[in-house]
Amino acid sequence: MKRTLIILLGSSVAFAIGWKSLTSEATIASSLKGLEGDVGRGAYLARASGCIACHTDVVNGGAALAGGPPLKTPFGTFYAPNLTTDKVHGIGGWNIDDFSLALRSGKSPQGDSYYPAFPYTFYTKLSDQDIADLWAAFKTVPAIGVSAKDHELGFPFNQRAGLTLWQALFFNEERFQPDTSRGEKFTRGAYLVEAATHCAACHSERNLLGALDQDNPFTGSESMLEGEGRVPAITKQALLGKGWTELDLAYALKSGLKHDGDAFGGSMGEVVRDGTSFMRKADREAIAYYLMNK
Ligand code: HEC
Ligand code: HEC
Repeated sequence: MKRTLIILLGSSVAFAIGWKSLTSEATIASSLKGLEGDVGRGAYLARASGCIACHTDVVNGGAALAGGPPLKTPFGTFYAPNLTTDKVHGIGGWNIDDFSLALRSGKSPQGDSYYPAFPYTFYTKLSDQDIADLWAAFKTVPAIGVSAKDHELGFPFNQRAGLTLWQALFFNEERFQPDTSRGEKFTRGAYLVEAATHCAACHSERNLLGALDQDNPFTGSESMLEGEGRVPAITKQALLGKGWTELDLAYALKSGLKHDGDAFGGSMGEVVRDGTSFMRKADREAIAYYLMNK
């Protein structure tokens, strides 16, 4: 299996290099022009969306957003880069279009493709206003002059050029489309889950190339994080089957306690500690409502 994968990716690298010149044309996010960003709303969203958790080495006392702890996956170890306003080591030299391109198109200002360990396959659904708010908040982050470590990936995954083909195969750039027939709470929950808090990044199955199974979301998966084992399903049926109610779920996202009184372990503990526990009650309730009613 692994051999086939390597051959597939190996040949795709050559193909992708030719392909790249066609696709790296930066999409100018003209819809962002003139939008006023709100720092408070942006900081709230950055926490809820996990930007701060992944890009800060909390355990080793790293400065906020100056680079994350090792993310050990079957593809190798990723380090989320420095996102502070440092012009050399961070993103201090970027403008809002560069920021939008990274988050919603998965491309660097130079046109290179990002690894999907950075959940841009979800952030592509973020609204223009949320991008403007996030950008306003990121502009206030104090500059820290250190570079995050380089990823430690084996061949062929260390070939960034191969990602352009990966994106062509598995990534659709798209904005969130509300289902207006389902009401405001459902829509808010859907947006938070699908665009921001990216629950499916861990709770949906991935194929051998790390692409998410879009057709069977939330059915559980083997964790991408070393040593974590299986991530449980959080479909409506699975949750009801285990005795969860909407109320339990909303409360668990605040307290980190499951309905049986056990604390969430592993990366789910971190999702709550660094993310959902800081959210507004109405937003946690909207997430629970969406998952239990879709
Ligand atoms: C699960 C961990 C994770 C989360 C959550 C996450 N990122 Fe990242 N991010 C990464 C990794 C890993 C990379 C490096 C990708 C690469 O090298 O291709 C990255 C890269 C980036 C880059 C490109 C930086 C550069 O120097 O090129 C930006 C910008 C970024 N992330 C912003 C964000 C924002 C904003 C959020 C929240 C909305 C966020 N990230 C959430 C892991 C994460
Ligand atoms: C970084 C990976 C990750 C993300 C993102 C994530 N989860 Fe989890 N989740 C886990 C893991 C791992 C477990 C198992 C934890 C345990 O058994 O203690 C889990 C467990 C759960 C459970 C318990 C299910 C059961 O069988 O009792 C619920 C409910 C849940 N997650 C909801 C969510 C929601 C809602 C989101 C989005 C807001 C989310 N998760 C995002 C990794 C994640």
